[in-house]
Amino acid sequence: MSIFNISLFNANRDNYVYVITNTKTNKHIIFDPTDAHETLANLENLGGEVSEIFLTHRHHDHVDAVEDVKAIFPQAVVHGGSALELDIVEKHLQDNQEIEILDGLTLKTILTPGHTLDCASYLVSFDDDDSQFLFTGDSLFSMGCGGMFDGRILDEYWNSLKKIKALDDEVYIFASHEYTLANLAFILAIDPDNKKLQEFHAEILQKTQEGIPTYPTTLKIEKEFNVFLRCDDPEFKKLLGYDDTKSDVDIFGLVRHKKSHFILQ
Ligand SMILES: [Fe+2]
Repeated sequence: MSIFNISLFNANRDNYVYVITNTKTNKHIIFDPTDAHETLANLENLGGEVSEIFLTHRHHDHVDAVEDVKAIFPQAVVHGGSALELDIVEKHLQDNQEIEILDGLTLKTILTPGHTLDCASYLVSFDDDDSQFLFTGDSLFSMGCGGMFDGRILDEYWNSLKKIKALDDEVYIFASHEYTLANLAFILAIDPDNKKLQEFHAEILQKTQEGIPTYPTTLKIEKEFNVFLRCDDPEFKKLLGYDDTKSDVDIFGLVRHKKSHFILQ
């Protein structure tokens, strides 16, 4: 069993904040602290101290509790992707940069511009475990991806999703919002006769009704059902009424546009 533990808590309405703890030293790293009240209450419950803070992008619902955490743990170093222009960021991380923290944890930054230009995802692995965990913020959700806030930068966003797709199927994915059920309604509208998708929907519906987080998901599951990761899949193009001559990025743009205008029944 790993000495590391990943926990999550709800913040704001539908944000998740993730904490990784070294259970031997009781030191933590925290991703996207938001909602000072919830964040501080959860950190107090955990005890110990925060040694690092990681931000996936600039949106307020991912950063607005950073100063509150710093007030209690002034030694906690605030990290962000290289394009994240916020005064609170102390260390900027480059694409593919690896850092060793928390006595046995490796964190690799994968820059994933698209939702915003400053987006970063973080791939985490532990010295004492073979699993890998990707913290995507709003770059990739279970069954969805973020809207585009810095212009229609389709090439950048599709490239970012391709970087994620290139990781191992077994990678566990943790994203920042509980949108899975609503995202699935959109996918089902595109692919209503897909039996496996219907089964997956039933699973997610039950979890959601019981208040169980739908994270982590895995890259394998996302590659199978998440339409934003299927824009290079000839079968998916066919489903949308196109043949393989339609470019992957055009399909991505089309699906992203459809999703933004999709009305939940
Ligand atoms: Fe966001």
